[in-house]
Amino acid sequence: MKVAVIGTGYVGVTTAVSLAMNGHEVLGIDLVKAKVDQLRMGKSPIYEPGLEAALAAMLAQGTLNFTTDIADAQDAEILFVCVGTPESADGTADLSYLQGAVADIAKLQQASPRSRVIVIKSTVPVGTGDRIAEQLRDFKGVHVASNPEFLREGSALQDALQPSRIVVGTDHPDAAAALEQLYEGVAAPRVATTRANAELIKYASNAFLATRISFMNELARLCAALGTDIVTVAQGMGLDSRIGPEFLRAGVGYGGSCFPKDTIALLQLARHHGIPLTILEQVREVNATQPAWFLGQLQKRLGELRGKTIAVLGLAFKPDTDDIREAPALKVLDALQRAEAHVTAYDPIAMPAVRALFPRVHYTATAAEAFQGAHAALLITEWKECVRLDWQEVKAAMAAPVLFDGRNAWPAKELKEAGFDYTGVGRS
Ligand SMILES: NC(=O)c1ccc[n+]([C@@H]2O[C@H](COP(=O)([O-])OP(=O)(O)OC[C@H]3O[C@@H](n4cnc5c(N)ncnc54)[C@H](O)[C@@H]3O)[C@@H](O)[C@H]2O)c1
Repeated sequence: MKVAVIGTGYVGVTTAVSLAMNGHEVLGIDLVKAKVDQLRMGKSPIYEPGLEAALAAMLAQGTLNFTTDIADAQDAEILFVCVGTPESADGTADLSYLQGAVADIAKLQQASPRSRVIVIKSTVPVGTGDRIAEQLRDFKGVHVASNPEFLREGSALQDALQPSRIVVGTDHPDAAAALEQLYEGVAAPRVATTRANAELIKYASNAFLATRISFMNELARLCAALGTDIVTVAQGMGLDSRIGPEFLRAGVGYGGSCFPKDTIALLQLARHHGIPLTILEQVREVNATQPAWFLGQLQKRLGELRGKTIAVLGLAFKPDTDDIREAPALKVLDALQRAEAHVTAYDPIAMPAVRALFPRVHYTATAAEAFQGAHAALLITEWKECVRLDWQEVKAAMAAPVLFDGRNAWPAKELKEAGFDYTGVGRS
């Protein structure tokens, strides 16, 4: 099918590449010319495993192209909207990019009228799809569907090619049929529903995942006080098929471009309807205070942080991405600098972006180098190369062998046996 994808950020570029890989003819559209130029040359604007190679292959095959001009999408039967919906000042979703995209679609439709399905992939508040359908009502044969995206950064392409589910919300059989044809051959459970239900499924999924994380983080604080072990507790809980093992890992808190903004947007939506989501309020509160709780443990162990050298391993909000939006590492760096610690830091991909925000931090060329002269080292993002280390070398490099594992990913038992002073998040 002929498809256009409006907005080629994390979701858009992944959607465009995966649809091309599934045999469709895809045009990616973005406002930012530099991004489009880069994409045309086969350079991905984001770091995602496998994405750049797949992008280059699809460009070479000639089934994927990029443009800044929506007029080039005149033949597109399906238009995906993948623009950002960031948090606005009051916490609600900022829909200005979305409105810009809808205005562009209206322009395209005026210049090149044809029947089309407009698919909203951006995460948008309940009712947005219905409002867009209303705005486009006068265009004959134009139908609006909601098809939220559930990809995880770090495995985005894989997730787009093999999604956990395909949720399609629409009130028109033509739109449902077009999306069924588009996703033919993709083995995933389908949920066919209304636009509003589809929109809420996305917010509810992210809010629930955030809830699991904050629940475990708060429980980890209790474990730290009781001398019990959150990793063992999580293992025991996860074996219950009603609970399952995913998203039970305690740590320094969640970040990224989705959970923080989507939880506040859902809270605002609920408040607007007079239904306060009190559990979700607490989920955000626990997450907001988790880095400070973690650093409080460090302070208890080291005393005054002023003048001490602290190594921070991992800066992206999670491994295998260069995304630092709302990354817990930013809060940790900020607090350490306020405490006048001397900070060294390492991340395989995200250092340039973090350097722009924290120029006084000393960034190292390897993970091992970050430990040099450190009075304590903190694991904030569990990149493989920040976890698999030569621990003898690390011990020799550090001023004191104090490890604070913010992701419970370092080999605790082995490290204690090797003479490290190891503290995890809620580990006995
Ligand atoms: N990043 C994720 O992991 C993820 C996962 C699931 C859902 N989502 C949702 O998907 C949406 C997009 O997220 P993202 O992280 O890809 O955003 P992003 O900021 O990385 O990318 C958005 C892109 O849209 C472009 N854009 C804005 N207005 C445009 C217009 N009128 N025409 C063409 N291009 C335009 C921007 O230039 C930018 O390149 C958001 O609603 C987000 O909540 C994101």
